[in-house]
Amino acid sequence: MTDYLIAPSILSADFARLGDDVAQVLQAGADVVHFDVMDNHYVPNLTIGPMVCKALRDYGIQAPIDVHLMVKPVDSLVPQFAEAGASIITFHPEASDHIDRTLGLIKEQGCQAGLVFNPATPLSYLDYVMDKVDVILLMSVNPGFGGQSFIDGTLDKLRQARRRIDESGRNIRLEIDGGVKVDNIRAIAEAGADMFVAGSAIFSQPDYKTVIDRMRNELAS
Ligand code: DX5
Ligand code: ZN
Repeated sequence: MTDYLIAPSILSADFARLGDDVAQVLQAGADVVHFDVMDNHYVPNLTIGPMVCKALRDYGIQAPIDVHLMVKPVDSLVPQFAEAGASIITFHPEASDHIDRTLGLIKEQGCQAGLVFNPATPLSYLDYVMDKVDVILLMSVNPGFGGQSFIDGTLDKLRQARRRIDESGRNIRLEIDGGVKVDNIRAIAEAGADMFVAGSAIFSQPDYKTVIDRMRNELAS
């Protein structure tokens, strides 16, 4: 059976009490903390940086932290996030001048590395770096904001990405980010995803455990 990972995006968490909110969502059964970094340059929004990642570690958060960099340039932030306790670091290939170098830098820092694909970004960016990626993250919304609707064309792109992963024979996670909810998570899994970012669908609910359990039920059915 596929080992599915649920990764709440803390973009929709309560920033005034972030440590507690993250601890609570993990307690409710989440596997990974999805940490959205936006720079008001590569994407039109501004969020959080390495200091906040370190603060979560210092607070006692032990789950993997999946840092999604929506920034340009990328490289200078990689060592800072690695030092702050990131487990996975993903970046958008359009935002890096030297994709192979950035992937190498992330791995050198002891983190898992991944590429992120906007809805219109071709998967061909993977052609020469498949041996260096641990995670492929497909955006199912345009990056920058939580609470947007899932773009249906992403299902076909997921199938294509899944085929590439299977052909590579490597153990690469296929992560999906944007508009994931209880009522579409099963179709998304059937298209090949095995790691699910969900921000508003989880944090908008009063009881995180109920919604995470419902997502797991969908995945098990
Ligand atoms: C969007 C971010 C997402 C976002 C997802 O740019 O990368 O992680 O928080 O939020 P929902 O699940 O609400 O679409
Ligand atoms: Zn994200």
